[in-house]
Amino acid sequence: MKIFAFAGSNSSTSINKQLVKFVLKSFDEHEINLIDLNDYDMPVFSVDLEKDGFPREAQLFLENIAACDVIICSLAENNRSYSVAFKNVFDWASRINVKVFQDKPMLLMTTSPGGYGGGNVMAEAQKFFPQFGAIIKETFSLPKFYENFDQNNGVISPEHSDTLKERIAGFKKQISA
Ligand SMILES: Cc1cc2nc3c(=O)[nH]c(=O)nc-3n(C[C@H](O)[C@H](O)[C@H](O)COP(=O)(O)O)c2cc1C
Repeated sequence: MKIFAFAGSNSSTSINKQLVKFVLKSFDEHEINLIDLNDYDMPVFSVDLEKDGFPREAQLFLENIAACDVIICSLAENNRSYSVAFKNVFDWASRINVKVFQDKPMLLMTTSPGGYGGGNVMAEAQKFFPQFGAIIKETFSLPKFYENFDQNNGVISPEHSDTLKERIAGFKKQISA
Protein backbone atom coordinates (compact mmCIF):
# COMPACT_ATOMS: atom_id res chain seq x y z
CA MET A 1 0.00 0.00 0.00
CA LYS A 2 1.33 3.45 -0.93
CA ILE A 3 0.91 6.18 1.69
CA PHE A 4 1.10 9.87 0.86
CA ALA A 5 1.79 11.90 4.00
CA PHE A 6 2.19 15.55 4.78
CA ALA A 7 1.90 18.14 7.52
CA GLY A 8 -0.13 21.26 6.74
CA SER A 9 2.74 23.50 7.81
CA ASN A 10 5.96 24.96 6.42
CA SER A 11 7.68 25.14 9.80
CA SER A 12 11.07 23.43 10.00
CA THR A 13 10.10 22.35 13.52
CA SER A 14 6.46 21.57 12.72
CA ILE A 15 4.71 19.76 15.55
CA ASN A 16 2.22 18.42 13.00
CA LYS A 17 5.07 16.89 11.03
CA GLN A 18 6.38 15.33 14.25
CA LEU A 19 2.95 13.80 14.83
CA VAL A 20 2.75 12.52 11.24
CA LYS A 21 6.22 10.96 11.52
CA PHE A 22 5.27 9.27 14.78
CA VAL A 23 2.06 7.86 13.30
CA LEU A 24 3.92 6.65 10.20
CA LYS A 25 5.95 4.33 12.43
CA SER A 26 2.76 2.26 12.71
CA PHE A 27 2.74 1.91 8.90
CA ASP A 28 6.35 0.95 8.29
CA GLU A 29 5.37 -2.14 6.33
CA HIS A 30 3.99 0.18 3.65
CA GLU A 31 5.61 2.42 1.02
CA ILE A 32 5.68 5.94 2.46
CA ASN A 33 5.95 9.23 0.58
CA LEU A 34 6.26 11.94 3.24
CA ILE A 35 6.59 15.35 1.65
CA ASP A 36 7.58 18.74 3.04
CA LEU A 37 5.37 21.67 2.05
CA ASN A 38 8.52 23.80 1.71
CA ASP A 39 9.19 21.84 -1.47
CA TYR A 40 5.81 23.09 -2.76
CA ASP A 41 6.49 26.76 -2.32
CA MET A 42 4.59 28.70 -4.98
CA PRO A 43 3.59 32.31 -5.52
CA VAL A 44 0.49 33.30 -3.57
CA PHE A 45 -2.44 32.08 -5.66
CA SER A 46 -3.99 34.68 -7.89
CA VAL A 47 -6.50 34.49 -10.74
CA ASP A 48 -4.16 36.73 -12.71
CA LEU A 49 -1.14 34.47 -12.27
CA GLU A 50 -3.07 31.33 -13.19
CA LYS A 51 -3.75 32.81 -16.62
CA ASP A 52 -0.04 32.13 -17.29
CA GLY A 53 -0.40 28.50 -16.22
CA PHE A 54 0.00 26.39 -13.11
CA PRO A 55 3.18 25.97 -11.09
CA ARG A 56 4.83 22.57 -11.51
CA GLU A 57 4.59 22.06 -7.72
CA ALA A 58 0.78 22.15 -7.78
CA GLN A 59 0.72 19.46 -10.44
CA LEU A 60 3.27 17.44 -8.48
CA PHE A 61 1.16 17.62 -5.32
CA LEU A 62 -1.76 16.15 -7.26
CA GLU A 63 0.48 13.51 -8.85
CA ASN A 64 1.59 12.39 -5.39
CA ILE A 65 -2.04 11.90 -4.44
CA ALA A 66 -2.87 10.14 -7.70
CA ALA A 67 -0.03 7.68 -7.04
CA CYS A 68 -1.05 6.84 -3.45
CA ASP A 69 -3.60 4.49 -1.94
CA VAL A 70 -4.18 6.43 1.27
CA ILE A 71 -3.40 9.84 2.74
CA ILE A 72 -2.13 10.55 6.26
CA CYS A 73 -1.91 14.21 7.21
CA SER A 74 -1.90 16.57 10.16
CA LEU A 75 -2.94 20.19 9.76
CA ALA A 76 -1.50 23.16 11.60
CA GLU A 77 -4.04 25.65 12.92
CA ASN A 78 -3.40 29.33 12.32
CA ASN A 79 -6.03 31.83 13.39
CA ARG A 80 -8.59 29.03 13.67
CA SER A 81 -7.98 27.83 10.11
CA TYR A 82 -5.45 26.30 7.67
CA SER A 83 -1.88 27.59 7.57
CA VAL A 84 -1.18 29.87 4.64
CA ALA A 85 1.41 27.36 3.36
CA PHE A 86 -1.19 24.59 3.11
CA LYS A 87 -3.98 26.81 1.82
CA ASN A 88 -1.79 28.06 -1.01
CA VAL A 89 -0.96 24.53 -2.18
CA PHE A 90 -4.61 23.56 -1.74
CA ASP A 91 -5.88 26.54 -3.74
CA TRP A 92 -3.45 26.04 -6.63
CA ALA A 93 -4.12 22.30 -6.76
CA SER A 94 -7.89 22.82 -6.63
CA ARG A 95 -7.74 24.92 -9.78
CA ILE A 96 -6.23 22.00 -11.66
CA ASN A 97 -8.47 19.36 -10.10
CA VAL A 98 -11.24 20.35 -7.70
CA LYS A 99 -11.16 16.78 -6.37
CA VAL A 100 -7.75 17.49 -4.87
CA PHE A 101 -7.79 14.35 -2.71
CA GLN A 102 -9.02 12.17 -5.59
CA ASP A 103 -11.32 9.89 -3.55
CA LYS A 104 -8.46 8.56 -1.43
CA PRO A 105 -9.07 7.34 2.14
CA MET A 106 -7.62 9.76 4.68
CA LEU A 107 -6.43 9.70 8.28
CA LEU A 108 -6.91 13.34 9.21
CA MET A 109 -5.08 14.74 12.23
CA THR A 110 -4.38 18.05 13.91
CA THR A 111 -2.29 19.16 16.84
CA SER A 112 -1.45 22.46 18.48
CA PRO A 113 0.08 23.67 21.74
CA GLY A 114 -3.39 24.70 22.93
CA GLY A 115 -6.03 22.69 24.69
CA TYR A 116 -8.25 22.38 21.63
CA GLY A 117 -5.54 20.61 19.62
CA GLY A 118 -6.33 22.35 16.36
CA GLY A 119 -10.02 21.54 16.78
CA ASN A 120 -11.11 24.46 14.61
CA VAL A 121 -9.07 23.47 11.58
CA MET A 122 -10.13 19.87 12.21
CA ALA A 123 -13.80 20.90 12.11
CA GLU A 124 -13.23 22.90 8.92
CA ALA A 125 -11.38 20.08 7.17
CA GLN A 126 -13.88 17.45 8.33
CA LYS A 127 -16.68 19.55 6.91
CA PHE A 128 -15.09 20.59 3.64
CA PHE A 129 -12.36 18.11 2.63
CA PRO A 130 -15.02 15.62 1.42
CA GLN A 131 -16.14 18.24 -1.11
CA PHE A 132 -12.59 18.07 -2.46
CA GLY A 133 -12.50 14.30 -2.79
CA ALA A 134 -11.25 13.25 0.64
CA ILE A 135 -12.74 10.10 2.12
CA ILE A 136 -12.05 10.72 5.79
CA LYS A 137 -11.93 7.36 7.53
CA GLU A 138 -10.55 8.39 10.92
CA THR A 139 -9.56 11.57 12.73
CA PHE A 140 -7.30 12.35 15.65
CA SER A 141 -6.56 15.62 17.46
CA LEU A 142 -3.76 15.95 19.98
CA PRO A 143 -4.18 18.89 22.38
CA LYS A 144 -1.33 20.48 24.36
CA PHE A 145 1.34 19.01 22.09
CA TYR A 146 4.26 19.97 24.32
CA GLU A 147 2.71 18.24 27.33
CA ASN A 148 1.42 15.18 25.51
CA PHE A 149 4.23 14.46 23.05
CA ASP A 150 7.82 13.49 23.64
CA GLN A 151 10.53 13.58 20.95
CA ASN A 152 11.65 10.03 21.74
CA ASN A 153 8.41 8.37 22.72
CA GLY A 154 5.76 10.18 20.68
CA VAL A 155 2.32 10.55 22.27
CA ILE A 156 2.97 9.97 25.96
CA SER A 157 -0.37 10.76 27.58
CA PRO A 158 -2.05 7.37 28.15
CA GLU A 159 -5.49 8.76 27.27
CA HIS A 160 -4.41 10.22 23.93
CA SER A 161 -2.10 7.34 23.15
CA ASP A 162 -4.97 4.88 23.60
CA THR A 163 -7.24 6.99 21.37
CA LEU A 164 -4.55 7.25 18.68
CA LYS A 165 -3.96 3.48 18.75
CA GLU A 166 -7.72 2.92 18.33
CA ARG A 167 -7.91 5.34 15.40
CA ILE A 168 -4.87 3.81 13.68
CA ALA A 169 -6.34 0.34 14.13
CA GLY A 170 -9.70 1.57 12.80
CA PHE A 171 -8.01 3.19 9.81
CA LYS A 172 -5.99 0.06 9.01
CA LYS A 173 -9.11 -2.08 9.24
CA GLN A 174 -11.05 0.19 6.89
CA ILE A 175 -8.32 0.52 4.28
CA SER A 176 -7.70 -3.20 4.18
CA ALA A 177 -11.40 -4.09 3.87
C1 LIG B 1 -0.27 33.19 13.03
C2 LIG B 1 -0.53 32.08 14.01
C3 LIG B 1 -1.83 31.82 14.39
C4 LIG B 1 -2.10 30.77 15.26
N1 LIG B 1 -3.40 30.50 15.57
C5 LIG B 1 -3.68 29.41 16.30
C6 LIG B 1 -5.02 29.02 16.50
O1 LIG B 1 -5.95 29.63 16.03
N2 LIG B 1 -5.26 27.90 17.23
C7 LIG B 1 -4.24 27.15 17.77
O2 LIG B 1 -4.51 26.14 18.41
N3 LIG B 1 -2.94 27.50 17.59
C8 LIG B 1 -2.64 28.60 16.87
N4 LIG B 1 -1.34 28.95 16.64
C9 LIG B 1 -0.28 28.15 17.25
C10 LIG B 1 0.06 26.99 16.32
O3 LIG B 1 -0.84 25.92 16.55
C11 LIG B 1 1.49 26.54 16.60
O4 LIG B 1 2.38 27.55 16.10
C12 LIG B 1 1.83 25.20 15.99
O5 LIG B 1 3.18 24.90 16.28
C13 LIG B 1 1.57 25.18 14.50
O6 LIG B 1 1.80 23.89 13.99
P1 LIG B 1 3.17 23.52 13.22
O7 LIG B 1 4.27 23.54 14.27
O8 LIG B 1 2.92 22.15 12.69
O9 LIG B 1 3.39 24.57 12.18
C14 LIG B 1 -1.04 30.00 15.79
C15 LIG B 1 0.27 30.28 15.40
C16 LIG B 1 0.53 31.30 14.52
C17 LIG B 1 1.94 31.57 14.10
